[in-house]
Amino acid sequence: MITCKVTSNPILDQKADCYAFTIEEGFAAAQFSKLFEELTKKYLPDLLMIMKQRKFTGKLMDTLVLPMNIKDKIVYCIFVGVGKHDAETRIENYRRAIGHTLKQVMACRGESVALHLMSARLFGVKPQYLAKQVTIALNMAAYHFNDYITTKKSKGSEVYEVTLCVDAKHKKEITQGIKEGECIADAVNKARHWVDLPPSILTPPHLADKAKEIAKRHELGIKVFAEKQINKMGMGGLSAVSRGSDLDCYLVILEYRAKKKNAPTVVFVGKGITFDSGGLSIKPSVHMETMKEDMSGAAAVIATMGALAQLKPDINVIGITPLSENLPSDKATKPGDIACFYNGKTAEIKNTDAEGRLVLADALSYAVKHCNPDAIIDVATLTGACAYALGPFHTGLMGNNEDLIDAIYEASEISGELVWRLPMGDDYKQAIKSEVADMSNIGSPKIMAGAITAAHFLQNFVDDVPWAHLDIAGTAFNVPNIPYYRPGATGVGVRLLVELAMNW
Ligand code: BES
Ligand code: ZN
Ligand code: ZN
Repeated sequence: MITCKVTSNPILDQKADCYAFTIEEGFAAAQFSKLFEELTKKYLPDLLMIMKQRKFTGKLMDTLVLPMNIKDKIVYCIFVGVGKHDAETRIENYRRAIGHTLKQVMACRGESVALHLMSARLFGVKPQYLAKQVTIALNMAAYHFNDYITTKKSKGSEVYEVTLCVDAKHKKEITQGIKEGECIADAVNKARHWVDLPPSILTPPHLADKAKEIAKRHELGIKVFAEKQINKMGMGGLSAVSRGSDLDCYLVILEYRAKKKNAPTVVFVGKGITFDSGGLSIKPSVHMETMKEDMSGAAAVIATMGALAQLKPDINVIGITPLSENLPSDKATKPGDIACFYNGKTAEIKNTDAEGRLVLADALSYAVKHCNPDAIIDVATLTGACAYALGPFHTGLMGNNEDLIDAIYEASEISGELVWRLPMGDDYKQAIKSEVADMSNIGSPKIMAGAITAAHFLQNFVDDVPWAHLDIAGTAFNVPNIPYYRPGATGVGVRLLVELAMNW
């Protein structure tokens, strides 16, 4: 956890274990002139020489950590490069440099850092936005799933105190940005924590309880349907997937109402398979190993609802999460079974490992029937094909409405969560034809394009409502080499959905 303070007093007057400066590539000492002067005069007389000798030029992630003796205490001066001024990447570079900086503080075993905030003008953004992004990066970098680590040394510090040293002129906006950033980062880290919990702990009833807690704490509306009601309502997709598990499945609906009358309504739907073994179409061990991540969409949606309850956008937002395990047993759904969904359509279940689309079909149908939505966005670890196509750095984006796609690209830009659109032409529809039902739950091998054919399956359940589908199979877990992440859950979706709602 991070506790963040703001000050407009000189950075070297702050009390801290570390002092951190992010620096542009090709910097001249003059750039942080006064500070540089003071720093060299008081503590690091050979700083420029050291930088030269160590070839510190300010390239992204260039790192220099130097001990200084301040009043008989060894503290560390941390310099991290943010790279060149390239309009495309500079804010993301700054996020990464900030995440990297906090990791350096950890490596020094520091628990507090005074951090010089760069000028928002350098990035062509508002100070409030910059402070928000920095706060998010710091808090995300501080996250560590250590519930089960029993040695103090590996567990690390629980709390880091950050003092942001800022220009007095912008202190107020920056303080506001930090507040928003903390709210978003809390939601991201909450989602990550739920995903990182072992799958025998974070089960469908457990995640439903988490949603109830969020609703209670933030005064959101909530409905929870359990397996019996789900069967009775005719949600044959969710029923079919849950049948192999002893635990109940759930459909959880969280509701945020805007103050404004006649505000538009946006529905977020998140895939919540708390463990995906594949069912009777069982996965090989290597692919099953990380399948506790298969509720990342639901985690993102539930956590986002908690954040929005505090940030209060001008639109109504409904979060729907179908929660189930996908396990084999003598009761489990068999390849060849046919499911009848909440909207009356049917699908032949040729492969029980394509279960995400089955539970989403009922959730999407529910949204269309009961929520009067102006738009629906689903978030799902849906296909290995998407992870192969885009890797861990872009979430797959598909949909039926250009304005909604544009809005998601815009939210992506603001939030830093990258998306990439895949096509959804009608030619792909033939891939999911079935001889015995309205559709098949897997695409024909001839057409390939597994991410796209899965999206086509989902499109059967949204009628004409503007809809977008985010396939986070590649981006939800174990994303390498981004300093504000770690191995494990990323919380992907939260930052994007929050910005989408706030900028609607
Ligand atoms: N949960 C998986 C998709 C997945 C793969 C998520 C890798 C995260 C990382 C999904 O339920 C699944 O098993 N999809 C199958 C579909 C296939 C049987 C048509 C897949 O992608 O292999
Ligand atoms: Zn599966
Ligand atoms: Zn799955």
